Amino acid sequence: MSFRTHSIVVLTGAGISKESGLSTFRDSDGIWATVRIEDVATPDAFARDPSRVHDFYNARRRRLAQGNIEGSIEPNAAHLALARLESAWPGEVLVVTQNIDDLHERAGTRNLVHMHGELLKARCGACGDVTRCAGDLGVAHACAACASVGTLRPHVVWFGEMPFAMDSIQTALGRCRLFLSIGTSGNVYPAAGFVEMVRHAGEAHTVELNLEPSEGASRFAETVYGPATTVVPAYVDALLVRAKAVAP
Ligand code: APR
Ligand code: ZN
Repeated sequence: MSFRTHSIVVLTGAGISKESGLSTFRDSDGIWATVRIEDVATPDAFARDPSRVHDFYNARRRRLAQGNIEGSIEPNAAHLALARLESAWPGEVLVVTQNIDDLHERAGTRNLVHMHGELLKARCGACGDVTRCAGDLGVAHACAACASVGTLRPHVVWFGEMPFAMDSIQTALGRCRLFLSIGTSGNVYPAAGFVEMVRHAGEAHTVELNLEPSEGASRFAETVYGPATTVVPAYVDALLVRAKAVAP
């Protein structure tokens, strides 16, 4: 299999959206510095106080959909570079994001999996219907599909729940020849274990592109540190130049 036909899997985390104006989770100014996971991001939290959980996600949804005082929330150069990689790379490129924002889609990435769900979608706990949701959710809202009231929840994966699409993610990890991990602290499994899965599957090259070394930094064959909007476009450009230079 030639270099040009290698498949690539890209894992992204909150760090790739930071320069677009969205908070990360574990940086000193991150989301978990201001609110406890146990209060807003577990099934127990939702059962105990659904309105509090809705308020938490409604505030994040409003920020994503309406922007903030600095302006609207837009895809940045790192998101755009990954969309460019997908369209220019001769082999398959799959982006697996832990992020629940829609910045990869809006940058043009198509082959995309939201393993932790999507902020702009709601799911009904009664019938399972998943619908687009750009506005606020609350306990008085009714499901459009089954008319149940109070059964809608954010279509996101909470701590203690199984991420989405794990089978297809594991298949892609098992056959990729290049694994890029971008903007993630390597704190949360199963995503934090993807680099090990890739290494055990064969001879893939593994690269961490992050602002600073993550928890799993030592597991990567190559590391590139700096802001995503600087290091990701540079890495993608070099990859595409190399693909052009290699005989088909
Ligand atoms: N460019 C690149 N990396 C950055 C930047 C930036 N501008 N800013 C921050 N980072 C890095 C941080 O150094 C950190 O390693 O992004 C990483 C963000 O880590 P976390 O805040 O832990 O976010 P993430 O890894 O995506 O969290 C994983 O945890 O809370 C859950 O569901 C939530 O999906 C999330 C998961
Ligand atoms: Zn329903």
